[in-house]
Amino acid sequence: MELHEIIQTAHAAEKIIDRHSPIPMYYQITKQIREKIEMGEYNLHNALPPERELVETYQVSRMTVRQAILELVNEGILIRRKGVGTFVAPPKLEQELSGLTSFTEDMAKRGMKAGARVISFGETMPDASVCEALNLHPHEHVYKCERLRLADDEPMALETTLIATSVCPGLRREDLENSSLYTLLADRWKVRLGHATQTLEPFLASPFEAKLLHVSSGSPLLLMHRVTFDQDGHAFEYVKSFYRGDRYKFVTELHRKSGR
Ligand code: GLP
Repeated sequence: MELHEIIQTAHAAEKIIDRHSPIPMYYQITKQIREKIEMGEYNLHNALPPERELVETYQVSRMTVRQAILELVNEGILIRRKGVGTFVAPPKLEQELSGLTSFTEDMAKRGMKAGARVISFGETMPDASVCEALNLHPHEHVYKCERLRLADDEPMALETTLIATSVCPGLRREDLENSSLYTLLADRWKVRLGHATQTLEPFLASPFEAKLLHVSSGSPLLLMHRVTFDQDGHAFEYVKSFYRGDRYKFVTELHRKSGR
């Protein structure tokens, strides 16, 4: 077959959108786009063809193409860059849920540079749920620190950490700028990590989180609450974290309990 025939055949195949199929046309297009990503035809570095070109290729309406792209954007397979185009999204970071690790350690394991930008820092009276979680006396104060966590300078998570002032007296805002809280607690206050309890639930980004995390308002996030205990079983940290749903995938290993 001549080269031009091969190209023609390939183009003809692309136009095969089965209009009588019960599978919606936009969905058939998402499948074809996925295949092109797998084959490397669409990749991280080159923008997808513009909408009008896809309309031409698949012989469908602009609305159908938009729906297909939106579907893939929502799945985190494609990303839109304002004013530049639509690109294949970088692979998600796989995060183990079973080990008690710090953000800095997690990034180092991937060969990435961890960063922390302090958004706010201060001493405050915690609310009842935090008091209970950290087993604090009434009127005991905590440091409250909100940090944007970065991986190779890309915002990944927004974390609000509360620690009793008695655990790390004299903690300052600048101590937390671009450094690891766990390393600092271990080195300066001899806090030795024991275990933690953690919950994970979906959350939609408010305009505040969206702006800091560089996602659109309403994007899916993963909300994590962690209470961390030291080796003597004392709870020392209460953390609320918002992780980007488009950049994270959580992994756990499951073992069947014996006796079943
Ligand atoms: C993770 C956890 C947080 C913890 C943080 C410590 O991000 N979700 O609960 O506070 O690690 O990380 P680092 O020591 O890098 O500041």
